[in-house]
Amino acid sequence: MSESFLLGIDLGTTGVKVLLLPSDLGLERGESVEATVEYPLSFPHPGWSEQNPHDWWRGTIRAIRTVLDRAQVDGRRIVGLALSGQMHGATLLDGRGGVLRPCILWNDQRSARQCREIEDRVGLSQLLKWVGNRALAGFTAPKLLWVRANEPEVYERIATVLLPKDYINFRLTGELATEYSDASGTLLFDVANRRWSAEMLKALEISPRILPEALPSTSVMGRVSAEVASLTGLAAGTPVVAGGADNACAAVGTGILAPGDVLTSLGTSGTVVAPTAAPRVDPGARVHTFCHVVPDVWYLMGVVLSAGGSLRWFRDVLAAEVQARAEAEGYDAYDLLMVEAETVPPGSERLFFLPYLTGERTPHGDALARGVFFGLSPAHSRGHLFRSVVEGVTFALADSIAIMRELGIRTGVVSVTGGGARSLTWRQILADVFGVRVRLAHGSAGPALGAALLAAVGIGTFSGIPQAAQQLKSRDVGLEPRPEVARLYRSYHAQFDSLYPRLKDSFAQLATLES
Ligand code: XUL
Repeated sequence: MSESFLLGIDLGTTGVKVLLLPSDLGLERGESVEATVEYPLSFPHPGWSEQNPHDWWRGTIRAIRTVLDRAQVDGRRIVGLALSGQMHGATLLDGRGGVLRPCILWNDQRSARQCREIEDRVGLSQLLKWVGNRALAGFTAPKLLWVRANEPEVYERIATVLLPKDYINFRLTGELATEYSDASGTLLFDVANRRWSAEMLKALEISPRILPEALPSTSVMGRVSAEVASLTGLAAGTPVVAGGADNACAAVGTGILAPGDVLTSLGTSGTVVAPTAAPRVDPGARVHTFCHVVPDVWYLMGVVLSAGGSLRWFRDVLAAEVQARAEAEGYDAYDLLMVEAETVPPGSERLFFLPYLTGERTPHGDALARGVFFGLSPAHSRGHLFRSVVEGVTFALADSIAIMRELGIRTGVVSVTGGGARSLTWRQILADVFGVRVRLAHGSAGPALGAALLAAVGIGTFSGIPQAAQQLKSRDVGLEPRPEVARLYRSYHAQFDSLYPRLKDSFAQLATLES
């Protein structure tokens, strides 16, 4: 094995994954080792979603120790590391670096009212000009306004607001910083010019003092402290590279760097990411415009809030005995559910699922939307229900693909990554619904691998991200759409798209009912 190594760490929503690679990346030699530690996610009220930053920290320490142990590598041989992380979470710190309240996550919908206030106060076209995006409940700024209105005693004590992975970087190094790709999702960042938006901060009366410095993603943001060295076995002084937002890192980790490439990522959320050579903004603000971790590249992104999240809900609530059996016998419950889904014809015999369990971003931007099964009959089995969940998530992703096409983005081949990408059945459904070839991008470690690439560039092993990414070669030739199924799915997708507009007002009414 190699003499020196890098760590790429992905701070996700279900857990933290640490990937250990040789410092030259050595992907051809297949010398990577990984460890994942899960942590809880809490939904204290309908529409709320929170995590305890201390759980992230404990999980990260444990995962680093586990990966070193598993690889039999002395921590002092790690020459650099970087994190990728779930975006948008508001991690609020006091003046001594203490956490003031649980982090309000990317899929938390409590700030719908603050979003309306922001759009009324600033106006949509001004927002698009200043920060490239509309106000959505998952973004950081509306949450700050929510805390100011509802927990003023907490708001007064905020000394710094950090994004989730930046909190881990702070614990590793003692330095407060962020980088362009994650700052993009705060609604306080001038995405086109890669700096905090003074105009937006002024309009929302948020003090610029609570924001950390924003750096390029490959900058060394700090060094592992002596205390952390004794906790982890890493050497004190090991460089920590600023890293990136998970979707941007997933793109790097799968070689999606430049215009013409499109990535679908199937994690708790599902995303469609398309890099652009300039900051393109959707006039309808249905997709986001964020900075890529690659210099002078941006990307458009559509987000389905509950993609894998819908499958997980199904597994835990409607297939608990499958999950229990799978755990006891050591296999994956999703594999068994997918086998059941394969026995059901495409379209799930006229059963639809709207995956809006935690509201929806693209294309509806509606925090109050909720999940729906439509067309249920006694003929429908669990396999039908599960297949309709997978198809519903895929139709929702196809809405983003349609918007990208409308904006002139080429979507000739779509790469797919994330936990859901492991399923051949789901990849075929993606190909059939999108109507294009779907290629499995370099395993499912996308974001952690992207972070490792940033670490490699940050410590100077490669001169740039494109040079580092040349190490990535997908061996997958891809799956073509099946013409007959693609034809059927076109009419099913049209039916899917007709449901939300009819339910929009009912979702808003639903939110006013006493419970
Ligand atoms: C993107 C988003 C999610 C999270 C998930 O805008 O909110 O994809 O980054 O980790």
